Amino acid sequence: MKRLSLVTGLALLVGLAVGRRRCAEPLDLRGRVVLISGASSGIGRAAAHAFAAQGAAVALLARRTDALAAVEAELAPYAVETLVVPADVTIDAEVERAVSAVQARFGRIDVLVNNAGLSYGGRLEELDPARLRALGEVNLYGPLRLARAVIPLMMRQGTRAGDFAGHIVNVSSVAGVLLAPGMSVYGGTRRGIIAFSTALRRELDGTGIRVSTVLPTFTNTPMADRVGEDALRAAGAMWPLHRFDEPETAAAAIVDAVRANRRTIRLGKLQYALGDFSERLTPGVMDLYWRVVIDTAGYIEAVRRLGA
Ligand SMILES: NC(=O)c1ccc[n+]([C@@H]2O[C@H](COP(=O)([O-])OP(=O)(O)OC[C@H]3O[C@@H](n4cnc5c(N)ncnc54)[C@H](OP(=O)(O)O)[C@@H]3O)[C@@H](O)[C@H]2O)c1
Repeated sequence: MKRLSLVTGLALLVGLAVGRRRCAEPLDLRGRVVLISGASSGIGRAAAHAFAAQGAAVALLARRTDALAAVEAELAPYAVETLVVPADVTIDAEVERAVSAVQARFGRIDVLVNNAGLSYGGRLEELDPARLRALGEVNLYGPLRLARAVIPLMMRQGTRAGDFAGHIVNVSSVAGVLLAPGMSVYGGTRRGIIAFSTALRRELDGTGIRVSTVLPTFTNTPMADRVGEDALRAAGAMWPLHRFDEPETAAAAIVDAVRANRRTIRLGKLQYALGDFSERLTPGVMDLYWRVVIDTAGYIEAVRRLGA
């Protein structure tokens, strides 16, 4: 027993020391090359602004070339280098071509922000099979594809073992932590990304490639625009002073994750902190919360309107 507590104590001290070392020097982003997926809209667009404001060169990836060109034009005042790389994250060849195009232009990729995402809500049995597949392809396999394509390049960028070689930020959602009815598929894909991101962080330990997970809460973007705070509030799922976040909040968290090498950043205030805690330690209480406190049918009706 004594030996066990000694080992646990030592492990905690080592963990703290490693954690402190990791957070010691915020990374200077000036001149770094950042590839952002889903950069044509919402959180990705805001992240492009936030990285450009730090002096980073930004490569913008999404399907809609015109929308990407508009975001690129918005970045002109920052006087940083930019590149538009149209690609569909569900297509291997397009992802590989996009990564090669960024490498050809800048010679490196320091940061990948895996942000492209898609959202459909509603009861599982009512979801169109094509939508089910799209949720998996974009939200789950998309980030895997992009990470897989940049890792070899990032590996070559580290000069010594442990030096900064690159950073992958996987944008998931609080819906992957707080598991809501009507979001079983979306939440499942977002939970999958949390597992992927955490395991990848450990897999890449020692290579100089860092991995973070950012979990935004409901955010005012085309994805959530039609859900409406009022409908969620009427269902009892939003506390009185709680508001949807602005995309800039998630973008700031993404930049912070890279600069300070944060493992996970979960956004959302007290309601989400308590929910997160309860999901981990007392899931039965969360079952009861959904059954007794929330108007589940009203909630499902509201999240049925998810999606741009
Ligand atoms: N908004 C929220 O309430 C919220 C909450 C938590 C987490 N999140 C997460 O935040 C991320 C960004 O969401 P958002 O709210 O900013 O949504 P959004 O405004 O709808 O933007 C989604 C982005 O993903 C891109 N995209 C979709 N399918 C794609 C594909 N097949 N290939 C390439 N790009 C694709 C879209 O660009 P194109 O259409 O041009 O391809 C767009 O740039 C998502 O991962 C989402 O799960 C959002």
